[in-house]
Amino acid sequence: VTEELPAELAPLAFLIGRWRGSGVGGYPTIEDFPYEQELRFTLYGKPVLAYESRSWSPDGRPLHRECGYWRPRPGGEVELLLAHPTGVVEVYLGRVDGNRVELSTDVVARTPSAKEVTAGHRLYGLVGEELMYAVDMAAVEQPLQPHLSARLRRIGE
Ligand code: HEM
Repeated sequence: VTEELPAELAPLAFLIGRWRGSGVGGYPTIEDFPYEQELRFTLYGKPVLAYESRSWSPDGRPLHRECGYWRPRPGGEVELLLAHPTGVVEVYLGRVDGNRVELSTDVVARTPSAKEVTAGHRLYGLVGEELMYAVDMAAVEQPLQPHLSARLRRIGE
């Protein structure tokens, strides 16, 4: 990374870089599934992290993607914007506390053809050298509950 770290980003600095790993997903309405994933948290000169996630099945079929921006605010607050190719956009509000970020959706908006996603909750934590996360969602008339969890290792800047 050649960009200098803006002071506002210090609390989220543990996320910066490229991460690779695997996870498992499920939901009451679908079969459990394994997946592989790459995450990127990138500095670009503003007090915001650009974010991108790609995931694929063990046999290489593309699965979910998402991209957005992590906006740290004073006092440990974090605002997160995410866009999904499934027609869903989410605005999360939460907090960073040490090497742990917890966020809940403030707003979920959907295109007319999107599946009915109504809420999300995310927990990210650096545990030793691993970035671990858990994503819960409320969707397709089911209450908020786990959809994804994964662990990743840093593979670069
Ligand atoms: C690594 C990220 C993710 C992976 C690998 C993943 C994978 C999957 C898979 C394999 C399915 C079942 C087959 C299908 O409908 O395509 C599924 C269903 C679904 N996912 Fe995800 N997903 C991810 C992230 C998300 C996120 C962030 C959301 C919400 C914003 C989401 C919402 C849903 C919904 C609503 C369903 C359909 C459930 C149903 O129709 O019963 N997924 N996901």
